[in-house]
Amino acid sequence: MPVTTIEWLNGKVRMIDQTKLPEELVYLDIEDVEVLAEGIKSLRVRGAPAIGIAGAFGLVLGIQNFEGNDKEAFLRELNRIADYLNATRPTAVNLSWALNRMKKVAQENATLGVEKIKERLLQEALKIWEEDREICRRIGKHGAKLIKNGSHVLTHCNTGALATADYGTALGVVFAANEEGKKVNVYADETRPLLQGARLNVWELMNEGIDVTLITDNTAAFVMQQEKVDCVIVGADRIAANGDTANKIGTYSVAVLAEKHGIPFYVAAPYSTIDFNIKKGADIPIEERAAEEVTEGFGKRTAPQNAKVYSPAFDITPHELISAIITEEGVIEPPFEINLKKSARNQNS
Ligand code: MRU
Repeated sequence: MPVTTIEWLNGKVRMIDQTKLPEELVYLDIEDVEVLAEGIKSLRVRGAPAIGIAGAFGLVLGIQNFEGNDKEAFLRELNRIADYLNATRPTAVNLSWALNRMKKVAQENATLGVEKIKERLLQEALKIWEEDREICRRIGKHGAKLIKNGSHVLTHCNTGALATADYGTALGVVFAANEEGKKVNVYADETRPLLQGARLNVWELMNEGIDVTLITDNTAAFVMQQEKVDCVIVGADRIAANGDTANKIGTYSVAVLAEKHGIPFYVAAPYSTIDFNIKKGADIPIEERAAEEVTEGFGKRTAPQNAKVYSPAFDITPHELISAIITEEGVIEPPFEINLKKSARNQNS
C-alpha cells in the first residue's frame, strides 16, 4: 500500500497526520502556514527530509496571499516566515537547508515581479520534494550492497517513506535489499517516548511484507548478545563535518551496544543532512520536548504529577562508533572529516 507522506495538491499541502498512525490513516489538507508550523512542532509531519520539504511548502503557503508588487516588502515577509518556520524544530538541519535554498531562489529572481517569484518558489519546493524521492532510491541502492541475504538489521526511530518524500533512508536500504531479492529481517526499536519505531517503522515494514520484530528499546542489548543482529542502520537529523551524528534519542546507546558486540553501525542520510558549518556533534542544537510526552504519553499518566523530566529529542553518536555513512553518492567510510568533504566536492562538481 504506497503512501504519499506529503505533497502539494491544488494550492494546498496534503500530508499524513503521523500522530494518528498506526490506528488511522488521516490526510490533512493545509492552506495556512500557522497550521503547517503546528504540524511540524507536534510531529504530524516528522523525519529530517520530510521536515525540510514541509518547510519549503510552508514558505509557499505563507507568501501565496501576499498582495501587491512591493518586492522589498515581499522579501522581508519571506524572510520573516522562513525564520518562523525554522524555529519549529532546531535539530534537523534539512529544515534550514530547504528554507535557505528557497530564500536563495527568491534573491536570484529578485528582478522579476512578485507573482513570478512566487511561481519560482513553488517550482523550487516541488524540486526539493522530487529530488528527495530520487535521492532516497539512490541511498537505498548504495546501502543494499552492505546487506547480505538473510541479514538481521536493527533500526531505531522511523526512517522510511513517512520520514521523507518517499522510500526513506535507513529503511530505504532495507527496501532496496528486499527488492534485490535478499531476505531481510528487521528488529525495530519501539523508540521511546513517542514510539516512532513501533507506530511507524513497523507499520511501513509490515505494509511492504518485510519480516519485522518489534522490541522495546532496552531489548536491543539482549538481541545483540544473543547474536541475532548482523548490522544496525539508522537515519540522521544532522551530521557534523567530523561525522558525529544527531539522531533520535537512544541512537547513541544502540551505537555503544553495537561496538561492544562487534556489529557494524551504519548511518543513512542525504547530503542535505550534513552540516559542514558545524565541526563536531557537541555544537549541534538539541531539541528538548515537553515533559508530558514522557509522563503521560498517549493519554495515560505513567509518572507522578509534577515529576521532574529531562527529554532531549535527539542524542549525538560520536563518529568513532560509526562504521560508514550511506549517502546518495555512495558509502562513505572513515576518516569522515576528510571523506565527507571529498565526496561533497565530487557531488558539487
Ligand atoms: O523526532 P522525529 O520523529 O522527527 O525524529 C526523526 C529521526 O530521528 C529520524 O531518525 C531522522 O530524522 C532520519 S529520517 C530519514
